[in-house]
Amino acid sequence: MSAPLIVLLPGDGIGPEIVAAARRLLEALGEFEFTEHPMGGCSIDAHGTALTEEVLAACRAADAVLLGAVGGPKWDTTDPDAPRPEQGLLGLRKGMGLYANLRPVRPSPALVGASPLRPDVIAGTDLLVVRELTGGIYFGESGRDGDVAHDTCEYSAAEVERIARVGFEAAQRRAAGADRKPRVTSVDKANVLETSRLWREVVGRVAPEYPDVELDHLLVDNAAMQLVSRPADFDVIVTENLFGDILSDESAMLTGSLGMLPSASLGAEGEPGLFEPVHGSAPDIAGQGVANPLATFLSAAMMLRHGLDRADDAARVEAAVDTVLESGLRTPDLSAAGESTVGTGEVTDAVLAAL
Ligand code: IPM
Ligand code: MG
Repeated sequence: MSAPLIVLLPGDGIGPEIVAAARRLLEALGEFEFTEHPMGGCSIDAHGTALTEEVLAACRAADAVLLGAVGGPKWDTTDPDAPRPEQGLLGLRKGMGLYANLRPVRPSPALVGASPLRPDVIAGTDLLVVRELTGGIYFGESGRDGDVAHDTCEYSAAEVERIARVGFEAAQRRAAGADRKPRVTSVDKANVLETSRLWREVVGRVAPEYPDVELDHLLVDNAAMQLVSRPADFDVIVTENLFGDILSDESAMLTGSLGMLPSASLGAEGEPGLFEPVHGSAPDIAGQGVANPLATFLSAAMMLRHGLDRADDAARVEAAVDTVLESGLRTPDLSAAGESTVGTGEVTDAVLAAL
């Protein structure tokens, strides 16, 4: 059997540093073949577009794709005709058919103090946002006519059904072996939007196929509120693209350590997934060797589990990250005032040693 082929897309800002660290981690775990390609701002500089056809083809042919981060002030623009780094990300999602975005939020026990919420509110929080990633207003018809602009939100029952299944199945998987009932919270705006009424109807229609899973529906404004008032009550949240974008940032901040959160974007069974940290490219600290690589390591763990069928290795990485945090090592983003800090290289060495 040949070694799995992993496409690395380091991207911009701190992306190259954290992806290089993740490559060291993966090389310590086993035999992988790597190829590296530009995507995002660096690709705009080199090719005039954030994602070339060649890079998309390389990603589609891989076993999995690991992405650092894209974007930076250099490419910020409101000119509708200028290329933007995010177009690379959206192009990959659509081009690879990555319709399911999984963003787990579990405050690391050693970092509970970093949450902006009171310890008694955040205690026990362990949730997963399942965000629909290739439909809705992100990909609907849009346009501008003088002073008037529009973006269209469209969903088909088939699109809602497949993401609902991802949510129900994830809830079952998370509860397996645990002494609790799996729960899915479907989030929509059914009191206003027709797409949301379809969403609610379809999710309700799929639910009886998962009789062990408890389902409730929340309106998105209410969900935003409940997420900060009782985060520990959530299990799996399943929602459409735009609501998922917003709620996943809110959920990420529950932990207070954005630098710790991984994500997976998955497509059809057997197709390669895309794995990336939730944080951005942090251009202000790029090139200084102080970027926190842990979210990328945890994304690599998701890649091992969901993309490469190596759940044991994934668990080893996750345990090693916990061990290193418990030992007190902190990159600057995780440190309290006055605490001493270490750089990307030292944290990586420590994780490798803890494996
Ligand atoms: C995310 C990001 C992207 C999104 C941007 C960069 C296009 O915010 O992955 O959540 O809105 O989906
Ligand atoms: Mg976002």
